[in-house]
Amino acid sequence: MHILTLLQYVALASALPRQHHSNPINCPIIFDGRIPQNLTLASFDSAATSPYSPTYVKGENLTWSQILLLSNQTPPSRFDNPTQHKPIEVTINDASLFHSGAGLQIGFRRAGLLLKDDKNAAGADSADEGAVTFHWSVRQDAARPLNLSHEYMNVWHEKADYSGNQFSFVGGVVLKVDGGTGEDSPEEREKWRVQNARNEFIFETKIRYDVWQNFAVRLDYVNSTIQVFYSSGQEPLKEVTMPLPNENSGGGQLQLGIAKKPTETETVVWDGYQEAMPKGEGQIYGGVFVEKSSDGCVSR
Ligand SMILES: *[C@@H]1O[C@H](CO)[C@@H](O)[C@H](O)[C@H]1NC(C)=O
Ligand SMILES: *[C@@H]1O[C@H](CO)[C@@H](O)[C@H](O)[C@H]1NC(C)=O
Ligand SMILES: *[C@@H]1O[C@H](CO)[C@@H](O)[C@H](O)[C@H]1NC(C)=O
Ligand SMILES: *[C@@H]1O[C@H](CO)[C@@H](O)[C@H](O)[C@H]1NC(C)=O
Repeated sequence: MHILTLLQYVALASALPRQHHSNPINCPIIFDGRIPQNLTLASFDSAATSPYSPTYVKGENLTWSQILLLSNQTPPSRFDNPTQHKPIEVTINDASLFHSGAGLQIGFRRAGLLLKDDKNAAGADSADEGAVTFHWSVRQDAARPLNLSHEYMNVWHEKADYSGNQFSFVGGVVLKVDGGTGEDSPEEREKWRVQNARNEFIFETKIRYDVWQNFAVRLDYVNSTIQVFYSSGQEPLKEVTMPLPNENSGGGQLQLGIAKKPTETETVVWDGYQEAMPKGEGQIYGGVFVEKSSDGCVSR
């Protein structure tokens, strides 16, 4: 009778979704972008309380507390500690616009988080030297879906002089000027892709609507390589590319949020088509952190 009870218990436990038994982060953290559970939306308007810059990169008349959403509906992602962290959603709408001089940049809509300690100048912080792994997880909000006929560049590491990115993480129909076909088809729409410094696709996976998708990109600045890691749900990360040659110089910053590109565009910044977004669009993030990977360490 006791044995049967034990067996039933074991069967039940193994049928449950895999939980966080231990902290999967086992390399030194350089920047921690995970959201402590006691933060409120107002916390993101002050550098004293936000892990991110309260100032950049957002529409000029908006505050982060207007842009971000906190919800307790979304379960924690793999690299969030369920007793300490919670997910955060970045949203865009028709006000996610920027001026450059006198001109309004009508091409794109953007809201981008910058880790507040991540300095732009080349070599100014330890995320630009040795080997470093950038981690983030994404989940989709059914109430604020992305329109994947557009290109979304949602995570990237941009060089300090803004001449390019060491890597980019894009979804939807990637514009020709960014290395895609620009052709709106179901196959083109439903993909997340990682691009190297030359905008070549080095990894792609289907966009999922039911689970977290966990991504990591390791840049080795000494050996000039890039390697991509991926898993879904609570599964450990797997390497999905070899360490591939990549031009990693130039320093810069991790950019994270939503950058929705226009369709029918030539300049991406100054022209093109954007439909109105009465309900806005959102991208949920969890488990954002940057770790030191010099001795080959990558948290899985
Ligand atoms: C959240 O809790 C931490 C640790 O207890 C504390 O240091 C911090 O001030 C709190 N932050 C806010 C915004 O309440
Ligand atoms: C921000 O508000 C100012 C003042 O009302 C306005 O002139 C400007 O166009 C607004 N900016 C954007 C991007 O809408
Ligand atoms: C660079 O390559 C060497 C030789 O394969 C390796 O030992 C080292 O860990 C790599 N990365 C760094 C950051 O030194
Ligand atoms: C999605 O974007 C395409 C291309 O801009 C546009 O034609 C279409 O109307 C948009 N769909 C929705 C639901 O807004």
